Order: sequence, then C-alpha cells, then structure tokens
Amino acid sequence: MIVPLESQPADAIERLLDAAFGPARHGRTAYLIRDAMPWLPALSFATLDADGALIGTLQSWPVALVQADGTQMPLTMVGPVAVDPAHQGGGHGRAMMDAVVAAARAQADVQGSAPLMMIGDPEYYGRFWGFSADGTGGWDAPGPFEKHRLLALSVDGRSVDGTGMLGPRIAVSA
Ligand SMILES: CC(C)(COP(=O)(O)OP(=O)(O)OC[C@H]1O[C@@H](n2cnc3c(N)ncnc32)[C@H](O)[C@@H]1OP(=O)(O)O)[C@@H](O)C(=O)NCCC(=O)NCCS
Repeated sequence: MIVPLESQPADAIERLLDAAFGPARHGRTAYLIRDAMPWLPALSFATLDADGALIGTLQSWPVALVQADGTQMPLTMVGPVAVDPAHQGGGHGRAMMDAVVAAARAQADVQGSAPLMMIGDPEYYGRFWGFSADGTGGWDAPGPFEKHRLLALSVDGRSVDGTGMLGPRIAVSA
C-alpha cells in the first residue's frame, strides 16, 4: 500500500535508507545537490507491507539549475528511491515512481511544474517512465556524477534543457 511519506516516522525512513544504500550514502553527489532542503510532502511516498511496516520510501526535493546569470530554473529532484532488500523486485519501486510521476503531472495541470530530475540508472528510469539524459548535457553538479545517469523528465510537455550548476532551490524574496 502506498501512503504519503509524512505519515511515517523519520527514524524508520533513515533505517530503510541505510539498509538499501549503506551508511556512506550521505556523501553522495545527490545529497550535495539538495543540501539542507526539506523534502516535498506532496511528492514523497512510502510503501507499507500488509502489517503496516515501512518497506519502501521515495523522497522528492526542491532543487534548481542555477544559470550563469544567476537565475534559477526550478527542478524537482526525485530520490532516493529505496525498497527494503527483502522486498525488492516486487513492483514496489515502480508503484512509488508511478505515484510521483502522476502527482507531478497533476500539479503541472494546475500550476505548471518543474521537471523531475535524478541521478539514477537509465535502464530502470528510462524504461518505465521515459527519464533521459538528452536534455541534461549542460548541467553540472557539486560532486562527481556520470553524465549518462543525470536524468530528467518533463511533466508538462515543455522540453528540458539549460546550462548551469545544480543546487538547492533558494527562495527569492520579492
Ligand atoms: C532500484 C529499486 C528502487 C527498484 O525497486 P524494486 O521494487 O526492487 O523494483 P520493481 O519491482 O519496481 O521493478 C522491477 C523491474 O525493474 C528492473 N530493475 C530494478 N532495478 C533496476 C536497475 N537498477 N537497473 C535496471 N533495471 C532495474 C528489474 O530487473 C525488474 O525488471 P523486470 O520486471 O523486467 O523483471 C530497488 O531495487 C532498490 O531500492 N535498490 C537499492 C537502492 C537503489 O539502487 N535505488 C535506486 C537509486 S535512487
């Protein structure tokens, strides 16, 4: 069963992420891109087993491509996507990704929406949802990454492009 991630205790989420990625995960480039941002409740999901135990988590974050002139192109960073090792291969990762893509498209219908992006395996995220590195060639990140794993997906029909540095989305006061 998929539920909003905000229904789950923070320590259970952290335990599941440690089980899926190992405790060294905090040094990854993805963590640097979303540095100090809170995750987005409307675009973050949990999977529970029949007993209500947490077996899957997907978080989304407000990030941006900061362009040479300083302007920010808003993006929604998806990940980590993690399924408890004992439950992998059962469709739970796909179900949570289906949920975030559908929710982002629904937001886009109402208010326009930032493209989704992630660092991930194109064999998985391209195959099922159409994520691609085609529009991310001009994107840089604050740590090492493989260019073919820097993926994006438009949710409103506009193409993804731009040149700049990925980082947290900073609120700009009017
Ligand atoms: C990657 C992960 C989220 C997938 O979730 P899952 O519930 O195990 O996978 P699903 O059951 O939804 O999808 C299964 C299908 O995707 C494929 N698949 C799973 N992980 C894949 C990967 N990394 N690359 C390519 N294909 C992959 C499987 O081969 C399977 O294909 P099939 O249906 O043709 O047999 C999960 O395995 C996981 O948490 N792994 C460890 C953490 C991780 O690497 N997260 C991704 C980076 S953010």
